[in-house]
Amino acid sequence: MKAIVISHPGGPEVLQLQEYPKPQPGPLEVLIAVQAAGLNRSDVLQRKGGYAIPDDAPATIPGIEVAGIIEQCGAEVTQWKQGDKVCALVVGGGYAEYIAVKEGQCLPVPEGFSFADAAGLPETTFTVWSNIFQRGGLQPGENLLVHGGSSGIGITAIQIAKAMGANVFVTVGSTVKGETCLELGATQYVNYKTQDFEQELAKKGIDVILDMVGGEYLTKNINILRPEGRLVYINASAAKPELDIIKIMQKRISITGSMLRSRDYAFKKALAEEVFKNVWPMITSGKYKSVIYKTFPFAEAADAHRLMESSEHIGKIILVMN
Ligand SMILES: NC(=O)c1ccc[n+]([C@@H]2O[C@H](COP(=O)([O-])OP(=O)(O)OC[C@H]3O[C@@H](n4cnc5c(N)ncnc54)[C@H](OP(=O)(O)O)[C@@H]3O)[C@@H](O)[C@H]2O)c1
Repeated sequence: MKAIVISHPGGPEVLQLQEYPKPQPGPLEVLIAVQAAGLNRSDVLQRKGGYAIPDDAPATIPGIEVAGIIEQCGAEVTQWKQGDKVCALVVGGGYAEYIAVKEGQCLPVPEGFSFADAAGLPETTFTVWSNIFQRGGLQPGENLLVHGGSSGIGITAIQIAKAMGANVFVTVGSTVKGETCLELGATQYVNYKTQDFEQELAKKGIDVILDMVGGEYLTKNINILRPEGRLVYINASAAKPELDIIKIMQKRISITGSMLRSRDYAFKKALAEEVFKNVWPMITSGKYKSVIYKTFPFAEAADAHRLMESSEHIGKIILVMN
């Protein structure tokens, strides 16, 4: 099969279309003929090198979410059959013509969604559900702040939280990004390049924060959280800021975070069931729409990475099979 391979750590140009052995599905796995693959920031970090990936992920093929058609089912697969259209969270290897993945990490391509639309769902919806709702415990009527509101994660968080009855505030790097977030259901955006989010949101009373920035945002986050507020990390810069423990006690704030990719199959399967029960109905009822900034043919994965690194995009960047 053809796959996009990281020929060696480096810039986007190291992504090369090469021949690679076609995977064989294990007993609990399905073999997906990949039609589209979503890009994620971790693909860029993996390409650059020095980024820890799980042991069972192919070291040289990036890609952690795909959509396609099931071509073959392992002997113990019960959920799916040949020809089913699915999207799947995968541990790596998504930039390829075929991928074998455990059946519990697949979900059906929602009605009305193309393969490109569906390829952008698994990593974002799983991450948002597990961090904002399971860990952050966001409730209807509460105020959520999402840093990086225009990211793939951000546009997903806005729409799901809004559909769940929460008010969503976001930080973004431009007015255009902010306006898109408002169109998707956000209540207010703060352009972090020209405004101080602590100052802008000080009086709002934020209940949950989803942070992918870390560093100096820690103190500001804690300052704007309400008593009983929850701060959830899904990424952070290398900076190690000081933590005011007294404030944590005074406001009874919970700080947590998680990394999805390294979680075990049992967790991902249970999460897929939760996402299917809670998020898929939002999609089929039209409360959640796919936000694709640009699609690229698989062979142009390097250009897709260049776009992601420019941070110009709003929403998802998707690779599509010709
Ligand atoms: N822990 C997990 O399991 C998990 C899972 C998935 C994703 N993630 C993380 O979630 C983040 C988003 O992932 P993605 O794939 O959706 O990436 P993405 O679309 O490339 O988005 C990254 C975003 O970060 C924003 N940003 C950069 N500096 C910022 C700052 N100082 N304040 C506010 N926003 C800032 C950028 O917006 P501007 O251009 O406007 O600055 C951009 O929208 C990444 O950090 C990724 O590693 C974690």
